[in-house]
Amino acid sequence: MRPSEQIKNTTDFIAGKAPGFSPRVGLILGSGLGDFAQTIQDPVVIPYSEIPDFPQSSVSGHAGNLILGMIGETPVAVMQGRVHFYEGHSMEKVIYPARTLVSMGCKTLLVTNAAGGIGPNLDPGDLVLITDHINLMGENPLRGPNDDTLGPRFPDMSDIYSKSLRGQVLEIAAGMGINLKVGIYAAMMGPTYETPAEVNMARIVGANMVGMSTVPETIAARHMGAQVIGISCISNLAAGISTVPLSHEEVKETASKIADTFRDLIVAVATSL
Ligand code: HPA
Repeated sequence: MRPSEQIKNTTDFIAGKAPGFSPRVGLILGSGLGDFAQTIQDPVVIPYSEIPDFPQSSVSGHAGNLILGMIGETPVAVMQGRVHFYEGHSMEKVIYPARTLVSMGCKTLLVTNAAGGIGPNLDPGDLVLITDHINLMGENPLRGPNDDTLGPRFPDMSDIYSKSLRGQVLEIAAGMGINLKVGIYAAMMGPTYETPAEVNMARIVGANMVGMSTVPETIAARHMGAQVIGISCISNLAAGISTVPLSHEEVKETASKIADTFRDLIVAVATSL
């Protein structure tokens, strides 16, 4: 079965849970935005475990629900928790939810994550608008036969995080008094945090922050013609920049401290789309 046929089966199932509902914006939420669900009006909650062909997340801090509903006047489909390449899923599985959201009609995908700050001028608790990425995961999610009904064989990546939407998001943040920074995100395979030398390499090649997600979903959504907004929460200083060992607890703790501001920003951005 081609990916597009499999996805059709999935979207038909989801449509059956919310007849007539057509999301315009898809959200993929990373660590620390677990209580985001409360901001969605008239929610229909579908556990990933019920959705045909959806992968399951095994990471603590990542719930596993697809939520359909409204943020203001914007119909949204929200992935509360994502799956990562390091969990052992194939890239095809990692991008499956993003492909599903775009197939359901989402023209814009808003993707969030927790990331290690490399700098300059990035501190734990900062929110950073992703301007571009460097894929250091060792694999491209579109490797393999191309399904031409989804997108082209050689997709252009020059506006991977939509420049015009970035301008809009920065204006919204400024209006809310949020100091939203900008930066380039380097994606690593994980699950180890980086060595100091790897962080130094990422810095030298132009990265401002480092993480283990986002890039596969963004590539997949862009391949299908959706526009992408990416926002990182700096949960820790990256290895070597920081003098203390990194831990998932620190990542979750910092992410949860900034969660309310992060949530308010995402609600305001989704409402504007
Ligand atoms: N490295 C990679 N992934 C991360 C980090 C980090 O320092 N922090 C949160 N996710």
